[in-house]
Amino acid sequence: MSDLIKEINRRRTFAIISHPDAGKTTLTEKFLLYGGAINLAGSVKGKATARHAVSDWMEIEKERGISVTSSVLQFEYDDFCINILDTPGHQDFSEDTYRTLMAADSAVMVIDAGKGVEAQTRKLFKVCVMRKIPIFTFINKMDRDANDSFDLLDDIEKELGIATCPVNWPIGSGKGFKGVYDRNIKKVITFSDTEKGTKEGKSEEISVDDKEKLLSHIGEDAYSKLSDEIELLEGAGAEFDQEAVSRGELTPVFFGSALTNFGVEIFLNYFLKMTTPPMARRSDIGVINTTENDFSAFVFKIQANMNKAHRDRVAFMRICSGKYEAQMEVKHVQGNKVMRLSQPQQMMASDRHVVEEAYAGDIIGVFDPGIFSIGDTLCSVKDEFRFEGIPTFAPEHFARVRQVDTMKRKQFVKGITQIAQEGAIQIFQEFNTGLEEIIVGVVGVLQFEVLKYRLENEYNVDIMLENLPYEYIRWIENKDEVDIEKLTGTSDMKKIKDLKGNPLLLFINSWSVGMTLERNEGLVLAEFGKA
Ligand code: G4P
Repeated sequence: MSDLIKEINRRRTFAIISHPDAGKTTLTEKFLLYGGAINLAGSVKGKATARHAVSDWMEIEKERGISVTSSVLQFEYDDFCINILDTPGHQDFSEDTYRTLMAADSAVMVIDAGKGVEAQTRKLFKVCVMRKIPIFTFINKMDRDANDSFDLLDDIEKELGIATCPVNWPIGSGKGFKGVYDRNIKKVITFSDTEKGTKEGKSEEISVDDKEKLLSHIGEDAYSKLSDEIELLEGAGAEFDQEAVSRGELTPVFFGSALTNFGVEIFLNYFLKMTTPPMARRSDIGVINTTENDFSAFVFKIQANMNKAHRDRVAFMRICSGKYEAQMEVKHVQGNKVMRLSQPQQMMASDRHVVEEAYAGDIIGVFDPGIFSIGDTLCSVKDEFRFEGIPTFAPEHFARVRQVDTMKRKQFVKGITQIAQEGAIQIFQEFNTGLEEIIVGVVGVLQFEVLKYRLENEYNVDIMLENLPYEYIRWIENKDEVDIEKLTGTSDMKKIKDLKGNPLLLFINSWSVGMTLERNEGLVLAEFGKA
């Protein structure tokens, strides 16, 4: 096998999705710990940066310039080269969070065992389903009182519409947490706070047939409950089916406790076996294979610098095929230009370094003087193709924007259009009127603050934001077949258009979306904007 094929096939690029506080950061830290990339948990990224107020965030962004830190982490584990993509979860939840999922080959979904499926997980899950990527579930915090395990599986199946297959099964929870039963090897791995690394902090593996030993470790009650549940699982649960996992139709489920480091290694080992190496991507000339094609990549995220002194931005690209080598010439297809990438950077655990070489599956961040747009393709000089674009994700918060000083119209329009091009906000207009009224849509409310701050600081324009009550936006899929003027919606429905003139509908509640569909036969609405 050539080195190129070997390098690509040993890569695993995934995103961790969860609702804030489910344990994503803790789990990531533990992964890095196993990879030997860090010595002490807690050093991945300051929690402080994840949980600050808006004003702090501005300061932090300003201080650190461009935050490459929170975007991707690469580390080695076993013979794998792992890329973990960060999906910002707290106030900085934004469209970028969704776009990051476009660069991942699979997703790990972390669920708090005491809470079940929560709102943000649901939203991110939808994007994974759209992409049909494998999804793995880690049910975390078993060392705390948890919901019933069968109920948790039920919740995932009903809420998310994906079949579940538990790979291991918990024995109790909270104070009564005794460990997990590995259904593959038919062994119980006893719970201990493995993080502590003391003698008591050592897990043991006990065969499920070794009744005596098991009883002495987990006690009579837990033993008989486990026996019943094993039987139930054999009879009721979905069978493991690698093909269904690969298609994103079945999620393997693991139970554990990231904080005490229990079940993390088991999870990582199974996950790395079951997930996929970098996947081929579709382009306008057909599928681009990871190993047979020369270098190619697409831009999935552009991060503006909050520091006024450095106006440049960082464009993050996912390498889709072949190998990148320092100083090599590449073609930026959308810009129709042959160029050298400027200081491509990669994150290795906690330090940033200039990339000498990178392979399909890797993510690199490139300084961007303003030439790249989200979805752009880069490829080798001799090639010419475009990867399928990145869809527009539905904003959930809307506001009308007005400039305080009407004389500054030009700067205002320039600023807001540029910020929209970077993909931080989406801008719309009233359906029937001209430009004077602008409606801004964002995925996370923090983006409103960022918009205001950047317009003031970079474009010298003060704005007023008037919040609008809408939460649902729908694209009209068959806009050429529908007479928008005659559309009969609900009283809360508002017709708007994007800058290209595409019609969209805004609703206050989801019920109205259904009602509008019912009242207009043949109308097709979409939750994602076409790429
Ligand atoms: P997030 O990135 O998904 O937002 O979650 P994060 O890892 O920051 O975890 C959120 C809180 O849950 C943290 O507590 C963390 O210590 C705790 N936690 C994570 N995994 C487990 C687990 O398996 N068991 C238990 N019992 N707790 C867990 P915190 O008090 O908010 O933060 P900290 O002050 O302890 O750092």
